[in-house]
Amino acid sequence: MSSVDEIKARLDILDIVSEDVQLKKSGRHYMGYCPFHNNTRSPAFAVFPESGTWKCFGACADGGDIFSYVMKKNGWDFKEALTQLAARAGVTLEKLSPEQAQRKSLEEEQTELLEAAADYFHQLYLYAPQAKHAREYIAGRELTDETVSTFKIGFGLNAWDALRSHFMNQGYSEQDLLDAGLLTENTDKGTTYDRFRNRIIIPIKDHNGRTVGFGARTLEKDGIPKYLNSPQTGLFDKSRILFGLDASKRFIREARQAVIVEGYMDVIMAWQGGFRNVVAQMGTALTRDQLQLLKKYTKRFVIALDADAAGVNATMRSLTVARETLDRDSEIRFDPSGLVREESRLSADIRIASIPEGEDPDSIIRNDPAEWAKLIGGAKPVVEYVTSVLIEQMPIDDPKNKSTIAQQVIPMILDINDPLERDHYWQFLARTLQVEERSLRQLNIKQQRKNSGQRPVVQAKSKQPAMPEPPPTIDGRPNGGIPDPTQRTKRRETEFLGRCAHNPLLIRQVNKILSDNGQAILHAQDFSIQIDREIFLLINNKQSSGEVATSGQMWDSLDEVLAERLKVISKETINSDKKPSRSLALSVLQWRAEKKKQLLTEFQQMLRTAKFNGENQSLEALAQQVESLSVEIKEIDHAKMGISSRSKHRYAHKW
Ligand code: CTP
Ligand code: MN
Repeated sequence: MSSVDEIKARLDILDIVSEDVQLKKSGRHYMGYCPFHNNTRSPAFAVFPESGTWKCFGACADGGDIFSYVMKKNGWDFKEALTQLAARAGVTLEKLSPEQAQRKSLEEEQTELLEAAADYFHQLYLYAPQAKHAREYIAGRELTDETVSTFKIGFGLNAWDALRSHFMNQGYSEQDLLDAGLLTENTDKGTTYDRFRNRIIIPIKDHNGRTVGFGARTLEKDGIPKYLNSPQTGLFDKSRILFGLDASKRFIREARQAVIVEGYMDVIMAWQGGFRNVVAQMGTALTRDQLQLLKKYTKRFVIALDADAAGVNATMRSLTVARETLDRDSEIRFDPSGLVREESRLSADIRIASIPEGEDPDSIIRNDPAEWAKLIGGAKPVVEYVTSVLIEQMPIDDPKNKSTIAQQVIPMILDINDPLERDHYWQFLARTLQVEERSLRQLNIKQQRKNSGQRPVVQAKSKQPAMPEPPPTIDGRPNGGIPDPTQRTKRRETEFLGRCAHNPLLIRQVNKILSDNGQAILHAQDFSIQIDREIFLLINNKQSSGEVATSGQMWDSLDEVLAERLKVISKETINSDKKPSRSLALSVLQWRAEKKKQLLTEFQQMLRTAKFNGENQSLEALAQQVESLSVEIKEIDHAKMGISSRSKHRYAHKW
């Protein structure tokens, strides 16, 4: 049995859901109020203990297995859900491939060495007579003993060969120390020496709390560089790490907000001041990888970078990255050439705190923690910030500048989710630039038309008669979960994934066929179990980024649990016929219909039970579900006919 199956076998979905939802038995299943949307009137959340699945038939219309449940509930990714549920079930997560095992043990050795080095630096800091000036420096920056010990602040001796001989005496090789970034190589002479000399050492951990590198501050006035970091190693990649996240993630989740600052000292001082939802991007602009990490814990960010030119630049760049990276609630649309486009609004809230010039979070908090709280509380929405930065750079007494600024700001307005807030910022921009709001909105349309046929988002409806209606979707989720997929349904899903793993471009072809026939394109929720959703997303991301990976290459980059599942899928598919995309699209519709029919039966059953028990408050919602499912099934059948008759037609044509 795979570890995922084992976990499912050992855990009871009722136990897990009951922690958040009061469930009441109703026939073969259990009902309660959905924990994922505002649901208090009639219970809309069903749990099916036999199949270990759940389904909301109200507003969120989602569903899945225990993995999907805990992911949604806690904002976890699949990996985190797996770790947590495995621990709860007492399942040890299984064997690695030889390469994975080797990489892992190398990494483990390296973190062990780095942790030993952190201890070594910390001991020197605390006790070495040579570290007196370092202790004085830290005292001058008003860090408490507790903070020093929490962050394990250290000191590197002012010597070329102190760390090297210390660790070589302990049995580490020179190569180990080089690989860990603790030594620097003099390539001319072929010698090595200690990298961090006469510096304050700050250990850097990844989000799992493993020590992966160091940031080392000079103790000399105007020493260069001010911070010397570990070199890039397999473990340490500054662009993938947020300083402080290992400790702050819990607080970020609690506060439902992450504050992003520039540097080590800002995080450390914030922590000491009791502001614990803070991370640092270590100098540069935020990267895509950093945001990916962070958005697991919250979708609300306050960027609090320094007010100097570098800080403003970094903020502006970070915003661009954020807009590109963060999830968007998409509305699927079609452009006239038949391509599927997603028009999307950012499903995140990003604000900018304005740090007074000449200050940084470290200095503000040290002087007056209340001031910091005020700055964060008063952080401005992106639109206002960007507009004021741009006006500073391009005075609006020149009309050309007005247009340039508008072009940059309008996309950010379009990102705003809430229509009222969006309107507010249209007005804001018009007022600030001293132009008519109407002209701004027209500018938007022109601008959008110019860009490669992307559909204008605003005021578009009546002006696009040539465009087909978008397919029926609920937030783009065609089949949010099902009670209990039949073997046949499961086989269809598996076969589909197997085919696409071999040829990711099939997804695009199938999507085209689906949308041509008025059906929603493929979505992770089309697959019954969470692990298959993960695999679909993986293949789909590869496919849409134009990266075509063989399944072999994909395995190498996968977590072992996903790799294991993909192997099973591929094995099952290996002997089945290579179907053309048209029959794959038919298969998708087939399984969608099967699930909907099954759901329909469940709902009819529930409806009868509810009537019988006199549970009147559920009746309306259930009846509505039955009604709309019947319609959807008819539509799918219709699309199926369309697709198969067209392929017959083609077939006849050929002959
Ligand atoms: N940084 C770096 N290398 C440098 C300078 C800065 O890696 N040569 C990174 C560090 O992560 C640093 C952050 O950028 O914490 C912010 O830089 P800066 O504002 O110059 O440092 P502060 O954190 O304010 O440092 P301090 O208060 O110790 O002067
Ligand atoms: Mn500073």
